[in-house]
Amino acid sequence: MLHLNAFLMGVGHHEAAWRLPDSDPFAQTDVEHFKRLARIAERGKLDSLFLADSPVLWNSIGRRPGGTLEPTVLLAALAGATNHIGLIATASTTYNEPFNLARRFASLDHVSGGRAGWNIVTTAGEKAARNFNLDDLPAHRDRYERAAEFIEVSLKLWDSWDDAAPLGDKDGGRWGDDDLLYPPEHSGRHFRVAGPLNVPRSPQGYPLLVQAGSSEDGKDLAARYAEAVFTAQQTLAEAQAFYRDLKRRATQVGRDPAIIKILPGIVPAIGATEAEARALEEELDRLIKPEYARQQLATTLRVAPEDLDLDKELPADLPSEDEIEGAKSRYTLIVTLARRERLTVRQLIGRLGGGRGHRTFAGTPEQVADAIEEWYRGGAADGFNIMPPVLPSGLETFVDHVVPILQRRGLFRTEYTGTTLREHYGLPRPANQFTRQLAAANR
Ligand SMILES: Cc1cc2nc3c(=O)[nH]c(=O)nc-3n(C[C@H](O)[C@H](O)[C@H](O)COP(=O)(O)O)c2cc1C
Repeated sequence: MLHLNAFLMGVGHHEAAWRLPDSDPFAQTDVEHFKRLARIAERGKLDSLFLADSPVLWNSIGRRPGGTLEPTVLLAALAGATNHIGLIATASTTYNEPFNLARRFASLDHVSGGRAGWNIVTTAGEKAARNFNLDDLPAHRDRYERAAEFIEVSLKLWDSWDDAAPLGDKDGGRWGDDDLLYPPEHSGRHFRVAGPLNVPRSPQGYPLLVQAGSSEDGKDLAARYAEAVFTAQQTLAEAQAFYRDLKRRATQVGRDPAIIKILPGIVPAIGATEAEARALEEELDRLIKPEYARQQLATTLRVAPEDLDLDKELPADLPSEDEIEGAKSRYTLIVTLARRERLTVRQLIGRLGGGRGHRTFAGTPEQVADAIEEWYRGGAADGFNIMPPVLPSGLETFVDHVVPILQRRGLFRTEYTGTTLREHYGLPRPANQFTRQLAAANR
């Protein structure tokens, strides 16, 4: 079965969506807007919904709605508005401490009854660094090294309570068993954490671990820890190569590759006819203000905005991926896309305006379902990150018109069969690493 995740972003992923007549330009801080989206996604039986995040104001507020709510806080509210759908929040391993974050996700897992997921990112961009006592972005390699240790510490903290530690023994006057706490006493290169966590082990054991960031180091991190992977892929061939590569890396580190669900993004502009879908896409692209987009593209490509002529192709002498310390894989994707299709800067801005490098697709519900099925059957995806260009309408159309087609084809669930996010993704509740050690010691 396919896995479908609703990637929610304000009034839509297209950067000009907020300018459409029906869009509420202030929806990104309106909890009722997000509750409505969550209920639509749950009506469609989607596995999960997902919120991106970065600890920085990440775009010009002249260009598009800016400022976002902290995702775990927002997801706690959405947990109360839904019953089944998984709730995935992004949090940075570069600008957090493991104890705080492990506690926050364990809390969200309790509050939601086992529906929490953590999208693990290392955070690109020097603007975020300057919010955390730094002048510049830590090196790419160092960020990923810290991420691996961060995850190890978090896993130890989530396992620092045995499932059997809370007793609630009123008669005996003993609330819990101190011997069933396993303080990690971690001491590593980046972190020293005594533990135990101050939250009992949560319904899922720990949140679903999601990874996003497709550089070499990003893929290695995913191979070791991820249970789901978000990725941006433009073509079937590229997505197949990425899929094979990641599953191979997982096998190499001794994991079952089937556990890792790979979900490329798709930005579907859906119309009753193909012409209607294209008209929506064109209407949105016309509303892009190219001067802002050019500025953003120049920052990504590390060139001066004046070097990007709107009606010419990208300059020939751009940095190589090795010279990029920020988001390496997204950089390469953008340059490869522009060169392969010989796009002018204006055309490239249009393509990126839809989904920032994710695959955009305009068509009828049947065509969108075909596009999804082709990648799924073609060994390019275990599911998709659905990124509606306009919200809520794009999610509503997807749920009401595309999901039923996928269900009729036997590709997608018609009912939830489990209650936790792990169950939706077909994953068992993980055993506690320390209980196993204890059992072995007692044998
Ligand atoms: C679907 C998707 C969502 C992502 N969301 C975030 C996010 O919310 N915050 C963030 O800092 N990075 C996010 N990333 C990762 C960045 O785009 C970028 O790839 C990463 O910071 C650096 O990874 P890399 O150098 O390994 O490519 C996301 C990636 C994907 C594919």
